[in-house]
Amino acid sequence: MAPFEIDFNTLVEGKPMKIMVDSTPVCLVKIKDEVFAVEDTCSHADASLSEGELNGYRIECWLHGAEFDVRTGEAVVPPAVAPLKRFVVERNSDQLLINHPNTQVKENK
Ligand code: FES
Repeated sequence: MAPFEIDFNTLVEGKPMKIMVDSTPVCLVKIKDEVFAVEDTCSHADASLSEGELNGYRIECWLHGAEFDVRTGEAVVPPAVAPLKRFVVERNSDQLLINHPNTQVKENK
């Protein structure tokens, strides 16, 4: 599985971006100096979360108003209850690699 590669400066603060990791749509968000990646399809029905509003660390689904925490993928406001899958964001300077959650990533600690 190939990671998705993107420059950190391409992302706009607070403006979600939809990317594809393998064949999965992923919602990428930049908040302060951090980048989070969760699956883009709402766990309630078939809506694209990157078209929703970001309020702090919560993204709101435009279709029925569910909200998810982009740090954990947790559904925090109904009608969605199932969490979103999180994707791994690896950062080397301004280069970001977005990996499928099942991919083993070497951690720089
Ligand atoms: S599709 Fe997202 S809340 Fe219903």
